[in-house]
Formats: sequence, structure tokens, C-alpha cells
Amino acid sequence: MPRFARSPFAFAPADAGDPSASAAPRGQSESPPEAPEPGTSPAELPPALASVLIAGRQPHADSPNYWDFFPRTGRHERAEQVTDFYEVRPFPGYAVSETRASLSDRLGRSPFLKSLDGGVPARARVLDAGCGTGQLSAYLALCGSRRSIVSVDACSASLGEAAGFKQRAELDHWHLLRADLFDLPVQERAFDVVLSRGVVHHTPDPERATREVARRVKPGGILVIGFYESLGRLFHRMRMRVCQVTGKPLSVLDPVLRRKDLSEDQREAWIADQYRHPLEVLLPAPRVAEWLRSEEFEVMRSVPPHAEGDALFTHSGAKRPGEGRVRLGWLLAGPRDADAGLVFLIARRRG
Ligand SMILES: C[S@@+](CC[C@H](N)C(=O)[O-])C[C@H]1O[C@@H](n2cnc3c(N)ncnc32)[C@H](O)[C@@H]1O
Repeated sequence: MPRFARSPFAFAPADAGDPSASAAPRGQSESPPEAPEPGTSPAELPPALASVLIAGRQPHADSPNYWDFFPRTGRHERAEQVTDFYEVRPFPGYAVSETRASLSDRLGRSPFLKSLDGGVPARARVLDAGCGTGQLSAYLALCGSRRSIVSVDACSASLGEAAGFKQRAELDHWHLLRADLFDLPVQERAFDVVLSRGVVHHTPDPERATREVARRVKPGGILVIGFYESLGRLFHRMRMRVCQVTGKPLSVLDPVLRRKDLSEDQREAWIADQYRHPLEVLLPAPRVAEWLRSEEFEVMRSVPPHAEGDALFTHSGAKRPGEGRVRLGWLLAGPRDADAGLVFLIARRRG
């Protein structure tokens, strides 16, 4: 699910404005990560991380890039396929030349991400569930040095990329964990803000994945969950059908592929992710909202729409956010939606 610089979420596999940016599959990347996390013995867990771990959970033996809680057996076959997919395509790609300043600048150009940063308190504990290469986490870490950010993903290659940037940017308050969403090593009700962008629809059980993630939010805390919405992604499903018939995607139907400024790597990354992903389940927003309500959440708003300066962690005033005419809007926006049906629900846990 790469997002490119013109997307409202400015969620790029590489910076379209930076020709040196890489969206190359692993092995072709020019910025292999180095071991950044000093010491990996459980005794050396950073206190901020130790304080949110489930009692008794210990990382496996040394991994230089992340704390490793990944299950060695028993994963669902489809989940393994998804992890294998990302192992050769860590997502989203970093520019070879990515620095603290370039990443903050690039992501900060997205009104949505700016508002997200504006909503996350200065000393918040944040969980990014399914962080990929962790660009969203890194952005929040760069914007708030007193935040404690825990990022989890199943994919070691993506975490390796995250670790490389963490080291270069000296983000000691950002912690990387390898774990499965269905076996999270962190406590329930432990985080002020939980993010999960573009993840649950790539799991074999999106309802369970949503609930697992939501349960990590503490009472009064916020969940920001982004997923492929059934109506929002309908037009893209049609594009995928056409692709099956013709053997390749038709640029004329796809606003991202119509762009002239994409590198070949970026095009390939988009095509792989949008047309050849091994597992994608579309989710109706009202159903996701129901799951959240049954986990003690109040759904406050859906995105899009989102305008510059809109506060994200407040109630939009809509009676049923993400329902009715909003969904019709997502459906009709399909042909020109560079996010191809990715929508967000923002919800507050009661308590
Ligand atoms: C499309 S990427 C999104 C990355 C990131 N959230 C972002 O928005 O930049 C989806 C990520 O979900 C992760 N993922 C999928 N299923 C997972 C699971 N069962 N446990 C942990 N991570 C998972 C993948 O490894 C991948 O990095």
C-alpha cells in the first residue's frame, strides 16, 4: 500500500520529490541497516519498553535491529505469505539520503500527519502496530523527544530499515519490536495513542487484529486505524480485475500510475502492492466501527475528508462517523483517489 507524495497522507514508498529515494526491493536497496540497538539481553531492555511489556515476556536471543518476540511456529499460513511478501519489499522505502530534516519535512507536508502530531501529547506512550519501516513512528519521534514510541512489525527487513534510520537519527525514545499482531508482547490498556495504518486488512482475521490493536489503548486514549474500506476501494477492485484480464495495470485508470514523476522502482512498488498483494480483505467502515464500540470506544471521526488544521482527536459532530453519505463520497472518489480506498477511523476509549 504505498502512498506517494501527492496523497493526502503523504505516505510515500520514497520521496517522489527526491530522485535518490529508493523503493527498491530488499537486496537492491543502497542503504542496508546497521546494528543500532546496543545490547539485546532482556536485562538491558530500556525502562520505557520494559514498563509496557506483558510480565514474563522475554525477547529471543540477540537480534541487532530490534527486540525479537516473533513466534517461531504456529503462524497462520496466510500471515506467513504476507510477511514473506514484505521481506522482499520493505515498506515504505527510505530515501538513501534520508535525514531527520528530510523525513520531518516530507511527512510534515501532509495536513493529516501534521494534525496527527498535533494531537499526540508531548509525553505520550505511542504504539504503532504494523509499523513497516516505521516512517510514521519516526516522524512522531522526531516531533516529540519526550514521547515513548513502540513500533511493532512482523517483517524483519522492514524493521531493519527502521533500525537504520533510528540509528542515523539518534532516536533513543523509539523502540522496535518484531512480533505478530496476534501475539503482541505489550500489555493491554497501556498506550495513550495506538496507530495502525494499512495493516489489519492484510491479516487473515481483520476483526481479531483490530481488537488486538484496540485493546492496547488505555482508557481515555486514542486509536487511529487505517484500512481499505469496502466502498472506498471498490473502484480499485475493478482496476485489479482489468489487470487480471490484460496482464498488467492500465495507467489510464490509475491516478498514481498516470504520474510522470515516478521512478521505475516507485511504479513497481505501487504495482506490487496494489495489484499483486497476497492478502487483502476489504472492510466496511460501519462494521469496523461496531467492533470498536464493542471494545468500549467512541468513534469520533473518519478521514477523509480532512482539511489543513483540523483537530483529529475531537468529535467531528457526525452522528455515525464513517457511515452513510461519507461512504458514498469514498465510492465516488475512487477513480481519482491516490490512496485507493484507505480510510481512517479515529476513536477514543471510554473510561
Ligand atoms: C502496508 S504496510 C504498512 C506499514 C506502516 N503501517 C505504514 O503505514 O507505513 C503493512 C505492514 O503490516 C505488517 N503486518 C501485516 N500483518 C502483520 C502481522 N500479523 N503482525 C505484524 N505485522 C503485520 C507488514 O509486515 C507490513 O509491514
